Amino acid sequence: SGTHDFVVVANRLPVDIQNDVDGERTWTRSPGGLVTALAPIMRAKGGAWVGWSGAADTTIEPFEADDMWLAPVPLSAKEIATYYEGFSNATLWPLYHDVIADPEYHRVWWNAYLEVNRRFAEAAAVNAAEHATVWVHDYQLQLVPQMLRRLRPDVRIGFFNHIPFPPVELFGQLPWRRQVIEGLLGADLVGFQRTGDAANFLRAVRRFTSYGTRGQVITIGKHWTRPERHVRAATFPISIDSAQLDELARTEAVEKRAAEIRSELGDPDVLLLGVDRLDYTKGIRHRIKAFGELVAEKKLTVPAAALVQVASPSREQVDEYKTLRHEVEVMVGNLNGEHGSLGRAAIYYMHHSYPQEEMAALYRAADVMLVTALRDGMNLVAKEYVAARSDLGGVLVLSEFAGAADEMSQALLVNPHDIEGMKSVIMRAATMDPREGRRRMRALRKRVLEHDVAHWANSFLSVLEAVPQRTSHV
Ligand code: G6P
Repeated sequence: SGTHDFVVVANRLPVDIQNDVDGERTWTRSPGGLVTALAPIMRAKGGAWVGWSGAADTTIEPFEADDMWLAPVPLSAKEIATYYEGFSNATLWPLYHDVIADPEYHRVWWNAYLEVNRRFAEAAAVNAAEHATVWVHDYQLQLVPQMLRRLRPDVRIGFFNHIPFPPVELFGQLPWRRQVIEGLLGADLVGFQRTGDAANFLRAVRRFTSYGTRGQVITIGKHWTRPERHVRAATFPISIDSAQLDELARTEAVEKRAAEIRSELGDPDVLLLGVDRLDYTKGIRHRIKAFGELVAEKKLTVPAAALVQVASPSREQVDEYKTLRHEVEVMVGNLNGEHGSLGRAAIYYMHHSYPQEEMAALYRAADVMLVTALRDGMNLVAKEYVAARSDLGGVLVLSEFAGAADEMSQALLVNPHDIEGMKSVIMRAATMDPREGRRRMRALRKRVLEHDVAHWANSFLSVLEAVPQRTSHV
């Protein structure tokens, strides 16, 4: 057995590794809530993190960083194409997001997924101390719980699905649907973002296995010679480090930058903002379409109104993402060509990612935040916007298809497929009485500040750790 009482298994390591010119290795902690939430637990328990470095064909020896033991799992260029870009992001990603894009089913991709999941399970098994708690994350690693249980029946295994779990009618398309369910059922606890995701999963268990379910508990091993084992499915909506962003957004530097952004844009009356990974699940085209029609119909005029769209580069080798980039850039070009003028655009489109301070300033500067995902596990941008608005300014427009909608009913909820509906909600947000805006923002902030990412991690782990310790049986 290894020496770590707590092991996190995720596709990506929580650091970005750079190799200096002289061969020195340096790293910086990746932005993102997961590592922030888990770092204190990792520190207290001597935790290890198993994940991919993001590079192709490179073996990196395990090393210590940020008080964590990092165990890099190597991927070959071929595995990046088949396991990561292929099965994870061109099969599972679109299938789990309501088939917004067509999922592709290829046996060679599945075989790579099997092989890489096995490698992650082995790395987890090597690092976990006896009776350790192992927490596996997301759709890239759904087979790890079962594989790990076979290697290490003594450990407690939790799995959290960060993205939606699809309805059984869609999930049933997957040629390997039973293997995926069996893979997940290797865990003691399977966590989801929304109650609907957990319900979809339980239906899939009933449809594609012969295990009994009672409430949210699944019983494995019904033969009398084999002891029973219980798997729990439950809901834990993920969040952000709200207090940290709240504090950052209040700083003088951020407030100053927010004012500067507004004046650089010519002090618009209505500044709209979109912030997303450039992904077809985010509804970026629908949002630009609605905004473009409002401008064409002169309900909004340029430069009194402007849309800032930050689209951070993502999965650029996957065809659907290339197509989307092209479509978005054509729409932006058309709209600016039609309605922009020298020094004044209708849309300010940025295909970059920015440091957190700049994002905080954009959130502070924006009058209306547009989160119009067609399907999203949670959507942390919605929570970030709210955490950044200690001034109680700004209005959040939020898709009902984002997990965040379950908790954020004080936002203006929209169906992004309904362009007319979205247009009228955008106008309502743009013209909202500030007293109503503040009342809504206050309620949203209360929720997001109380339910932060530490609360999420602790809730999940306390349910997982209440599972009775087992010794040997599978
Ligand atoms: C989503 C997924 C994560 C993933 C992230 C970035 O949030 O749930 O598992 O890490 O997107 O995508 P990438 O493919 O760059 O890791």
